[in-house]
Amino acid sequence: MATTVRVELGERSYEIRIGAGALDWGWAGLPRECRALLVTDHRVEALYAERCEAALRALGWQVTREVVPAGEASKCMAMVERLCARAVEGGLAGYAAASYLRGVRFVQVPTTLLAMVDSSVGGKTGVNLPQGKNLVGAFHQPMRVVADLACLDTLSEREYAAGMAEVVKYGVIRDAGLFAQLEADAAGLRGVPVAPLEGIVARCCRLKAEVVAEDEREGGVRAVLNFGHTLGHALEALGEYQACLHGEAVAMGMEYAAALSERVCGFPAAERERLVRLLRALGLPALAAGPAHSWSDIRRVMTRDKKASGGLPRFVLAERLGRVRFGCEVDEDALRGAYEWCLAQAG
Ligand SMILES: NC(=O)c1ccc[n+]([C@@H]2O[C@H](COP(=O)([O-])OP(=O)(O)OC[C@H]3O[C@@H](n4cnc5c(N)ncnc54)[C@H](O)[C@@H]3O)[C@@H](O)[C@H]2O)c1
Ligand SMILES: [Zn+2]
Repeated sequence: MATTVRVELGERSYEIRIGAGALDWGWAGLPRECRALLVTDHRVEALYAERCEAALRALGWQVTREVVPAGEASKCMAMVERLCARAVEGGLAGYAAASYLRGVRFVQVPTTLLAMVDSSVGGKTGVNLPQGKNLVGAFHQPMRVVADLACLDTLSEREYAAGMAEVVKYGVIRDAGLFAQLEADAAGLRGVPVAPLEGIVARCCRLKAEVVAEDEREGGVRAVLNFGHTLGHALEALGEYQACLHGEAVAMGMEYAAALSERVCGFPAAERERLVRLLRALGLPALAAGPAHSWSDIRRVMTRDKKASGGLPRFVLAERLGRVRFGCEVDEDALRGAYEWCLAQAG
């Protein structure tokens, strides 16, 4: 099986090739005779670099390999410098590809569920500074995305569940049908590997591609993709990017955003409960089970978020499952009330 999703962005349009084995066949139609730099981390290298390089050599590409340490700490300026230096010899990942020679062509090969449904779609690249996450970055679209679902067989259950948080997010922001399908399949989706995944990954890529096609550079509707991320980013920062994975923080952030939505824009309590039940069924953590950060710490860090305007955090809030509003300002009592209410819930 194979699915192609097209991201329509005029001359920057490209295809996402999704399916088991895409590492072997997902490259068809790309230019031949390129010089390329394959950038990966040491864990993924050991598992998939040989196969990837063999497929690229078959296309006539000359490939040099650069391996970075696994983990968020590699997403830093020093690594951009190192990759750009290597790119002088080879060709180039993410922000480094956007920067080197003011932008070189690149292919993204997501190997986590989170990257397949989210980070590899839409061209947002970034690196972290000591002051915060993703503070330096660029919009730079790839010429192809190759998502081999078989790679997920080796992904840990924890990383897999974290990716599912972003899948659930698409259901809440834009696709109530997807949400219902996830509820029906939740038992089979927990853990790896899974059968209905190709359809789900393709559906998420299509949803993100639609949003990105409407708003490539995040001036408007693209903000809906940040559902659950305002609190999520604060939790990640307070845990110094080590206590929880991005998807876990987003799951807790969605629980909070749902409680807030119930208070300020009529999100039905029964739908909030369905969201929380689904997150639990997929193995994602509850806000009440995490480290109990004080509201004043959370609030202080939210103000630093780059989406905050004049010290006020902005929220994406749900009206119903599948329908959200963005850019919402919420009064301080409701912000605190919803947080403390979530913390008081039994797991
Ligand atoms: N650009 C965007 O729009 C966007 C959206 C969401 C998240 N992000 C960013 O993405 C980053 C997280 O990416 P990620 O979740 O893909 O994490 P990652 O690339 O750091 O991988 C997580 C871990 O899983 C391992 N791994 C990866 N694939 C594997 C496989 N197939 N088998 C076994 N192990 C594997 C890696 O070695 C690593 O240890 C964060 O920095 C986040 O900010 C960006
Ligand atoms: Zn995210």
